[in-house]
Parts: sequence; C-alpha cells; structure tokens
Amino acid sequence: MSETRNAALDNTATMDSSGGTEQATNGLQRLYKPSSEVVENANVTAYMRQKGFSTYEELYDWSIKNPQEFWSDQANELGWYEPWQQVLDDSQAPFYKWFVGAKTNIVHNAIDRHVTTWRRNKLALIWEGEDGTQRTYSYHTLNREVSRFANVLKSMGVKKGDIVTIYLPRIPELPITMLACAKIGAAHSVVYGGFSVEALADRVDDANSKVLVTADGGVMRSKVVELKKIADEAMARTPSIQTCIVVKHTGHEVTMESGRDLWMHDLLSLPIASAVCPTEPVDAEDTLFILYTSGTTGRPKGVVHTHGGYQVGTYATLKFVFDIKEEDRWWCAADPGWITGHSYIVYSPFLTGATSFMYEGAPNYPYPDRWWSLIARHGISILYTAPTAIRGLMRFGEAWPSRHDLSTLRLLGTVGEPINPEAWRWYYRIIGGERCPIMDTWWQTETGHFMITPTPITPLKPGSATRPFLGIEVDVVHEDGSSCAANEDGLLVVRQPWPGMMRTILNDPERYVTTYWDKEPAGMYTVGDSARKDDDGYLWIIGRLDDVIKVSGYRLGTAEVESALVSHSAVAEAASIGLPHEVKGNVIHSFVILREGFEGSPQLEEELKGHVGHEMGPIARPEKISFVPSLPKTRSGKIMRRVLKAQALGQDVGDVSTLES
Ligand code: WTA
Repeated sequence: MSETRNAALDNTATMDSSGGTEQATNGLQRLYKPSSEVVENANVTAYMRQKGFSTYEELYDWSIKNPQEFWSDQANELGWYEPWQQVLDDSQAPFYKWFVGAKTNIVHNAIDRHVTTWRRNKLALIWEGEDGTQRTYSYHTLNREVSRFANVLKSMGVKKGDIVTIYLPRIPELPITMLACAKIGAAHSVVYGGFSVEALADRVDDANSKVLVTADGGVMRSKVVELKKIADEAMARTPSIQTCIVVKHTGHEVTMESGRDLWMHDLLSLPIASAVCPTEPVDAEDTLFILYTSGTTGRPKGVVHTHGGYQVGTYATLKFVFDIKEEDRWWCAADPGWITGHSYIVYSPFLTGATSFMYEGAPNYPYPDRWWSLIARHGISILYTAPTAIRGLMRFGEAWPSRHDLSTLRLLGTVGEPINPEAWRWYYRIIGGERCPIMDTWWQTETGHFMITPTPITPLKPGSATRPFLGIEVDVVHEDGSSCAANEDGLLVVRQPWPGMMRTILNDPERYVTTYWDKEPAGMYTVGDSARKDDDGYLWIIGRLDDVIKVSGYRLGTAEVESALVSHSAVAEAASIGLPHEVKGNVIHSFVILREGFEGSPQLEEELKGHVGHEMGPIARPEKISFVPSLPKTRSGKIMRRVLKAQALGQDVGDVSTLES
C-alpha cells in the first residue's frame, strides 16, 4: 500500500501482506478488512457463534434489543458474592442502577478469583521506569501488596464512605493504592500527577478527603517532578487532609510534617501490614471511585462510578475490543490518573486476567525509539495510545521504529480525540506492519468504557471510530431530538443506559441531570460532542460542542484555565479557546484584560503562563496570551468564545446578533 495512491481511483479490493483486504468504498474512503485469521480467532466471533448468529450485525441488533440479556451474559462471567435481583432499575432515571441487590467487589474479580487458580503465577503487572528499572508483580504478589496496603489504610480508620485522594506518578503504587481502597470498600479519587496546586486542592476539598497518598516525586525526561512539594502547597490551602502517605520514589529530599506525613515503606514494615486482608463485600451500586473531569464551569465535576456495572462494562469491552487472550502483553500507554488508565491500565486488564505493562517516562527519552524498544523488549502484543502520541512519534520518522522488532504486535488502539487519517495510516503501516487492526475507541470519563469502537472483525475506515459497541445505542440528532440524515452533522447522544455509566456528580446530582439529561432530546444522554454518520452507518466524531479543550488528549476546561488566570493580581478578566495544533491536537490561546495599572508585555505573558502552570499544571499552560481591552460578550454577559475562535482563525464570525453592543 502506498500512502500517496489515490484511493478514489482504486475500486478493486487488494490483498495486503497478511491476507487482509483493503478496499475503496464510496470511491473515497478505503475499507481496511481484517484477515480471515484475525476474524476466526476473535473473542467476539466466538460469542457471535455461541449466540447463534452468523454476522456481527445480527449480534449487534440482538444486543440493543436485549441489552439486559447481553450485559447479564457478561456479568455472569464474573464472580458475585450474592446475585442481583434486577439487571437494570430505571425507575429513578436518569439515576439508573445496575445489578440491583448484588453483592460484589471489583477486587474480588480483579485479583481474588485469579489467585486461587494457575494465574497466581502469571504476571499481572510489568513496570519499567525511565531509567530502565523494572518491577514485576505476579497476581500472587499483587494480591499481597494490595492486601498489605489495604490493612494499613484500614488501621488508619479508612472505611466505606471515605474518599482517599491519590496523587502519584505512573508507578506500581498507583494501581496498588487504587485496588487497596476498593478492597476495603473505600472510594479513591486519583488526581493526575501532571496537575498542580490549585487543581489538587480543589479536588481534595470537593471530595473532603482525610487521607492523601503521594510520592516524593515523579520522573520525566530524567528530571524530578516535585509532587510532594506541590502536595504541601495544596494541603496548606485545604483543611481536609489529616494524613499524607508518601511513597519514596525519586529519593530526593522532601519536607515531612510530623504528625501528618508518613512514609509508605515505614507503614508497610509495621505488623499491621499483613498480607492477608479479606475483600469487603459491597453493594453493586456502591461507589468505586470519583474522577474529576472538566466541564463548562470552573468547578470540575466529580464523576461517580460504582463497583458492579463498571466491572462488567470494562471487562466486556477489553475482552471483545482488544480481544484479550492469556498470552497477550497489553500496554495502555495512558496515565492511570485519567479514565483511560483507570479502566484500561488498572481495572479491566486485571478483570480479564491479563498481563498489563506500564512505563513511567517520556515516549522519546532518551531517544525517539523508547516506545518501540519497550515493545520489542517486553514483547508487547497490543498497544493502546492517543493520536497525539502517534503524531509526536511520527515526526521523528520511520527509521526509529524500523530498528526494532515489532512483530509481537497484533492489535493497536487509539483514544482521546479524532485521529487524522495520515497518523492512522502511519500507525497502521509502520507500527502495525499492515497486519494489526486499529481500534479507534470513542468514550468518555462519564461513560466508563468504550462506547463507539470497532472490534477486530470490523472493516475499518481511518479516522472513524466505526460503530457502537454491543448493547450500546447511539444516534446523531438535531437540536429538537430528531435523527440526522446520513452525512449530516449533529449532536451525539446515547439512547439507552449502559452498565459503566456515571451514576451522578459528587455533591451535585442536579448538575448531573442538567449537564447530561435535561437538554433536548429528553431521555437521552447528551455527550457534548458533534458527530456525523456516513452512508454505511460509520460514525465520525467532529469535536466538542462545549468549552472543553483536548490538549495532547488531556481534557481541560477553559473555565478552569480562566479561573487560574484571574487568580493572578494583574488579571481582571480572561477567556480561553483551543486552537488547532499539528501534534497536540489543540493548544490553549488565552485573552486577558489587565487590571488598572498593569501593562501587557512579553515578561507578563511569561509570568501568566507560569502562573497557570503552577496553579493548574504544565498541561494547562496557555501557548499564547493576548492582552486585549475588551472581550466579545452576549448581552447577558457571557463571553462568546466562539467569536474569539473565529477571529483567531480568520474565519467569518457568524451570527453575532446576541453580542453586547
Ligand atoms: C474525545 C477519554 C474522537 C471526545 C476516554 C470525548 C474522542 C472526550 C475519542 C472525552 C475518539 C475520546 N475519537 N474523539 N476515539 N475518544 N474523544 O473524558 O470529545 O478525557 O467527548 O475521556 O474525548 O474525554 P475524556
């Protein structure tokens, strides 16, 4: 296959080297069909046959007509202390409940049920640090480590109803701490290690956490990220934290406040840290974790997920989409501090009994082939990453991956933003050797697991997340709720509840209803993305409709960046927009009105960028700050970011009839 070949002229199916076929459809998009070997061996094919269907379409149609049967099939593959009386309770919609009455614990399924089988000897987690240090955990060892820390937490009085905030780098202690909380029935709230003081303080406050688990520091490009120092500043801004447990990771000097700060290794050496800790049976609807995500206001939303439905949804999606087999080495290159890491580094790999790989450092450190060398050395068979990472590594050229044997790979995946076809093809050809189907998975923090995604047997179109997953019914609709025609842009909605869905927003159930369910069309989950369906029913995600910006795949709210800006003494008002960027997808451009007595200068621009970096974290640092005398506003005083964006892009500003005159 050649990238420059004009697909529009190519109407014949051609065999690729692996026996898969690639065809032109609609005279424009080529369809990448999986090889018969991939289809024959896929987990989804086995399920399709088990249910007596001969095509995936038939299986899908059945699954959305009988979602409760489909999801209970999946749930029955997991262990439950007590069975459910009802699969779905929709009597208080949109506060849906799944597997009502069941007793379970996700740790029972992620660890306990494996350690009584041969899997106790299987590697659960392989970790490599940026300096090449490696640590491995069998399911047996993982169980011991999780139990030991669970006993420590228990001895501190942590129990069901508590929320432990975790602020750790990408090290094994992160999944271990998450699992330890879940094991004793407490909830965790992980704050991404790239976030900073104000972001951490806000999240600790909202969750009212008494315990914070952090580390002395993290490592990125051989430099120390001062996590403990940031945590100290954050703790000074909130009265909530009583105990701070610190992992010694970088070994550099940090301040430990006596009576509050304790080293994790000291606690683990106490007799209380026994390796035996019974897993607490919890209600299927009990909270497993809170994960904060950005929305349209400055206050991040604490998305609530529960044990029962979430374990079923993440388990089923990883099994069918990434086709997990016992022999696989699965690498989700996200950070556990985001939903991708929660669902697909920590929970679902262990739920499926897989071997999960985790790497702490930068993708191009010390050289741009670091990832490719990791794949070769660890024999990774499935790689799941983000378009921004692919674009970033693509810039360095083919010579870097071609030095390494990537033949262990059999499947690839992407998530976080639409992938441009050029990056898709590079990933397919250079990394996947034209043999590995690419699973472009669309989902959100709120959805808990994949929603629109291929399976290995789906013919692929570069740039499209293809079709909804089994049991998931989505649509593209007009503002009034009526379905859009093919190729018409509209709002993406989900028409039926699904088990891994968020249950509410912590401390703000009303906001849950108004953000996701109250808008037209009533009774459907409003995603916040615009999309279109093509003639074949394939979905193409266009982008966010709200003030959420995806920078390098990280979800940021303009409002949070703006509130960081106005916390600086020079700033009176601020507005931020996302502008397209070749590698990062989007970058932040902020517009600032200064207070009396301040004047815009390159020095002040740098100072403000640094201020946002300090308060929110380096990822939220604006790329550019413009000093302006006024901002376009509606008559009711709302900033019209749409107008700023159109102006910045040199586009027509559109309808500005509501603009303040
Ligand atoms: C975007 C990440 C296109 C989308 C798991 C969504 C995508 C938001 C894709 C959620 C994809 C995620 N193609 N867009 N495959 N995956 N998005 O909560 O705008 O960090 O609404 O969850 O990312 O971001 P979040």
